Amino acid sequence: MVLRSRGACATLADHVREQTMVQTRHYNLENVFDADSTPGVFGKVATQLMCLHQLVRQFDSPLVLECGVNEGWSSGVLAHACELQAGRLVSLDIADCSAAIDSEVWTFIQTDDADLDFVLSHVPELERGIDIVYIDSLHSPRHVAKLTSLYYPLVKQGGYLAFDDVDPGPFMQGRRKDNANMEVVWRGIADAVLDFFHANEDDLLLEFHFGSTGLAIMKKLAQIDKLPQPARRLRRRSFTLRSLARQLLTRR
Ligand SMILES: C[S@@+](CC[C@H](N)C(=O)[O-])C[C@H]1O[C@@H](n2cnc3c(N)ncnc32)[C@H](O)[C@@H]1O
Repeated sequence: MVLRSRGACATLADHVREQTMVQTRHYNLENVFDADSTPGVFGKVATQLMCLHQLVRQFDSPLVLECGVNEGWSSGVLAHACELQAGRLVSLDIADCSAAIDSEVWTFIQTDDADLDFVLSHVPELERGIDIVYIDSLHSPRHVAKLTSLYYPLVKQGGYLAFDDVDPGPFMQGRRKDNANMEVVWRGIADAVLDFFHANEDDLLLEFHFGSTGLAIMKKLAQIDKLPQPARRLRRRSFTLRSLARQLLTRR
């Protein structure tokens, strides 16, 4: 679809929409704009996508790397923001998603996104620094951890890593998408993000958005060339018989 004018009553938001040329194949980008911050499931999906849009709009001429395209929901939104900011979006997917969107700022590479050498051989500019890396490909905590350590060193100071699929809530028992396996995987992805954060806390800011599938946004405060510490799981304490007894004894 092509973003188009609404005539004499055009708002500032309409004006911004008109300045771009991105075409999306599987959905209508205007529906995402319209559903931003509205109630309901699609409202949550749209709000999460528009968070990514706002991230891109912070930068002049941003270079954005996206892992996972499929139907191109995030690709369309990211490309739209890149067009507005005179930026560039590079998207990776193991499947051929080259027709998901059409935009002059978009480069699609069909590859395993963990094959960094292949990616850099196609887009060497990535080595000079990336403003935003968005990770939404293989739903596996191990894969997300691998991509984080691979791409973090390429993210510029002040740049971001964003992660989809960090909210297990919708998959929990009795919830909208009740699914035990996915609940565990989504919690594992959130933990992978937290493990990296805890190992590098002084160099990062981290926020989580829940609802939809969840979005984590990590800002890199360190200089681009500072290598990260390997991710580590903090020891979690839970109540034991002894700690419960101590609580009861010390309760006034
Ligand atoms: C959840 S979908 C991406 C959704 C997309 N970001 C959107 O907003 O519409 C996940 C995609 O990751 C791709 N994928 C899975 N494993 C991959 C890998 N190792 N490397 C690159 N892409 C992969 C799949 O082919 C699939 O298209």
